[in-house]
Amino acid sequence: MRTPFVAGNWKMYKTVHAAVAFAKEFRSVVKDITGVEIVVAPPFLAVHAVADALRNSNVAVAAQDVYWEKEGTFTGAVSAPMIKEAGAELVIIGHSERRRLFGETDQTVNRRLLAALAANLGPIVCVGETLEEREANRTLDVLDRQVKVGLDGLTAEQIADLVIAYEPVWAIGTGKVATAVQAEEAHAHIRSRLRQWFGANAADHCHVVYGGSVKPDNIAELMREPDVDGALVGGASVDVRGFSDIVIRSQVSKRS
Ligand code: PGA
Repeated sequence: MRTPFVAGNWKMYKTVHAAVAFAKEFRSVVKDITGVEIVVAPPFLAVHAVADALRNSNVAVAAQDVYWEKEGTFTGAVSAPMIKEAGAELVIIGHSERRRLFGETDQTVNRRLLAALAANLGPIVCVGETLEEREANRTLDVLDRQVKVGLDGLTAEQIADLVIAYEPVWAIGTGKVATAVQAEEAHAHIRSRLRQWFGANAADHCHVVYGGSVKPDNIAELMREPDVDGALVGGASVDVRGFSDIVIRSQVSKRS
């Protein structure tokens, strides 16, 4: 049984001050929740302060991106050891906004992923098709490519500990959530490929979470699907009440 995993991706929202205020309030609201892995991903500038504010709580911190070199002449980049030292335990890699706006490819996702693992950061690797790809019936091929190239070189043990976020690009920030059936189809497909390429143990333990217009009123339906292990939440994660509702409602009994 995989523990539900719910992460909030704040994207480019919240100053350091606002991020810390959220963290202080949120930790007290969710302090008695057990059985859900809870994560917030603030902008880089706030990672350190938010990690401090959440120390000894049941909420972990993720960064939203990572560069693959450890240090050097890479203006504007932030490395995995730097993120780790700032107090984050996880990092989002290959979000579709990074792919679309900042030139990320499956190959650079893979380099980032290997660097994150080397620094002991838990990766949350994002995959997902565009509307055009879905309409051309290419969803599963796109997922195959993103998973195969993105996860190249990982061991079965590393896959077992990984979080993959299936985020159909057409559902991100649009209010158009994938149906539970669409999500389950993609998640089950990803898991079957993991089984084929990395073995049963890796596939059974890897978390495959859904992202794209997750809200308090649709999380339970998504979570009831056997291969939906949690959520990566954007817009609805910047509000303490809304995000804590999602965390609470992620604990549903699964269909088998
Ligand atoms: P959304 O974003 O919940 O605002 O659709 C999800 C994401 O980009 O991770």
